[in-house]
Amino acid sequence: MKKWNVASVRSAKGVERLGCCTAYDSCFARLADEAGVPIILVGDSQGMNALGYDTTLPVNMSDTLAAVGAVSRSVKNAMVVGDMPFGSYQCGDDEAMENAVAIIKAGADAVKLEGGASVCNLIKRMTTAGIPVLAHVGMTPQSVNEYGGFKKQGKTREAAERVLGDAKAVEAAGAFAVTLECIPSELAAEITAALKIVTVGIGAGPVCDAQWLVMHDLLGLNEHTPSFVKKYADLASVVRSAFSAYVNEVKKGEFPR
Ligand code: KIV
Repeated sequence: MKKWNVASVRSAKGVERLGCCTAYDSCFARLADEAGVPIILVGDSQGMNALGYDTTLPVNMSDTLAAVGAVSRSVKNAMVVGDMPFGSYQCGDDEAMENAVAIIKAGADAVKLEGGASVCNLIKRMTTAGIPVLAHVGMTPQSVNEYGGFKKQGKTREAAERVLGDAKAVEAAGAFAVTLECIPSELAAEITAALKIVTVGIGAGPVCDAQWLVMHDLLGLNEHTPSFVKKYADLASVVRSAFSAYVNEVKKGEFPR
């Protein structure tokens, strides 16, 4: 198997649908890679799934660089995308460039950042500098305080036009793919048909070129998940039973023998 790259992701459009997921550590990244996951996102969702925060906002560059390093050292074929955390690209384009370069130096093959028309200059500058960008429009979790919660976007025709405009803008700016998060499936279908780049949906219905799932959701490690999630395993019970069997056996003197 060959390592996934920008060219192979671009040419998957209309040919092969890609099931992609997040990972934040070496062990799970290796397992996802061995299973053939084509793109692994070191998402800022590590804030909620690995670091114990309620939102992605507290995640910082050192969290991101540690996780990107761990994941990229552990995969052979998956493309590793490093998510730019909140604050790492909002305070000025020069600082954003330095942070994107640091994420690539830590081992990522590409970066992801949230926003549409407002981040297009930055996307142009990054791609011109050789940093592939996976964009993210629709519901952008770093704007949770602006929305007043993680709320579906693009529900009215006017709002849908804005999301469509953002998706077209990030494509024109040079993004090689775009995440469509929590938007109506008809809008995701319209955007997927309108763009030449791969759309990666999450909570955006079945028509996108590729899908994300947060790893802890798909493995059933998170017991409470958004309604669009499909759990492919129930690891929470498996892991809890294993811990509890171990504690009991030690208590009873059955382990170690
Ligand atoms: O951080 C993340 O996991 C993401 C996905 C929801 C796409 O941005």
